[in-house]
Amino acid sequence: MQYNIAIIKGDGIGPEIVTQAQKVIKKIGEVYNHKFNFKNLLAGGCAIDDCGECLPENTIKEAKNSDAVLLGAVGGPKWDNEPSNNRPEKALLGLRSALGLFCNLRPAKVYKELLYSSPLKKNIIEGVDIIVYRELTSGIYFGKKETAQDGKSAYDIMSYTEDEIISIARLAFNSARERKKHVTLIDKSNVLETSKLWRKVVKNISKDYSDVKLDFMYVDNASMQLIKNPKQFDIILTENMFGDILSDELSMITGSIGLLPSASIRSDKFGMYEPIHGSAPDIADKNIANPIATILSVSMMLRYSFGLEKEAVAVENAVLKTIEDGFRTPDIYIENINTRKLFGFIKYKSAYKNTKKVGTIEITDEILRRIK
Ligand code: IPM
Ligand code: MG
Repeated sequence: MQYNIAIIKGDGIGPEIVTQAQKVIKKIGEVYNHKFNFKNLLAGGCAIDDCGECLPENTIKEAKNSDAVLLGAVGGPKWDNEPSNNRPEKALLGLRSALGLFCNLRPAKVYKELLYSSPLKKNIIEGVDIIVYRELTSGIYFGKKETAQDGKSAYDIMSYTEDEIISIARLAFNSARERKKHVTLIDKSNVLETSKLWRKVVKNISKDYSDVKLDFMYVDNASMQLIKNPKQFDIILTENMFGDILSDELSMITGSIGLLPSASIRSDKFGMYEPIHGSAPDIADKNIANPIATILSVSMMLRYSFGLEKEAVAVENAVLKTIEDGFRTPDIYIENINTRKLFGFIKYKSAYKNTKKVGTIEITDEILRRIK
C-alpha cells in the first residue's frame, strides 16, 4: 500500500524531532513493505518568515489531500509580537479546525523504568494508564473573542452545541469498551452553562453504553485527584481548554512531556499526529530534545489512520525496548550524583544504573535498531 503523509515540521525543536520520526516511518516501510510518501508543508513561525502568513492556503489544501499529517510544534519568541490572528499557534488551531479534527486523543502510560523520572511518588504512579479525549475544535478556543479598543477589557466566549459533545463522547464510550469500561467526564458544571450541557448530553449517551461506568468530576478537583490518585482514571472526557491543561499535568505523571504523543482525529480515518509538547525553542538544535513523543505519534498514525496495528505495535515495542535497555535523553536521565544528594536512598540506584544519556539522533538510532 501507498500512504501520503503531509509533514509539517514547524518551529523550534519541531524540525529535528519530525526528522527522527520520519526515519521511523521509513524503517517501518522497509521492514513491512509499505510505501510512505512525504510532502513538506509550512505552518507556524517558519511560514510567517516564508510568506507572511502563519497558515498558508496551500498547506490546508495539501494537508486535506494527504492520508494523514505529522506535525512537530509551532511557535517561539521570535513571533511573539505578531498580531493574535497571525501567531504561529493560530496555524495549529486553523489546521485542526479546517481539517475537522474534533477529537484529540492523549494517552499517558507510565513506563516502569521511568518511575523515578516523575516528581511524584512511585507507588502513586506505578501502572497509570490514562487516555484523555479532549474536544478540539470548539469551546473557548474557537468562540468569539475580542479586546476592547482601549485595551482595558477583553472577552473569550466558550460555547458548545449538543452535536459537538455527542461526536466526541461517542468515540470515548466506544474506546471505553476496549479498555476498562470507565469514562470520567471532567467539567465545571457548578459554574459553567457549557459544562451543564456536557453533563446532560453525556449522561444521555451513556444510556446506550450501560456496560460502561460513567462518573463526573469538577476540573479543579480532577487536577488534584490526578496527583493524589491517578490510578482512579481510565478515560478522561473533557472540553478543549480543560483537556489542554490536564494533559500537561498528566505528562508529569509519566515523567516528561517529551514522552506523550497525540492523535487528532475525526469520524473517518484521517488524522493529524503531533507530540503534546511545544516547540521548546530554548533547547532547539542542540540534539537534546526527546523525539519519543513524536515517534509514538507515528505509532498512533499507523494504527488509527492506516489500520497498521502490527506496525504500530512494532514502533511501541522498539521505544519500550530502548527505554528498557537504558537509553535516555536528558529530560528523562537521572544524574547519579544529584539523585544521591536529592534522595539519599540506595533504592534509587536502580533508576540510573546501566542507563546512558544520549541525544535526539542517538536515541532514534537505538529505536530504529529495535524495530522488527
Ligand atoms: C497543545 C498546545 C496548543 C493548544 C497551543 C500551542 C495552541 O498547547 O496542543 O496542547 O493549546 O491546544
Ligand atoms: Mg497544551
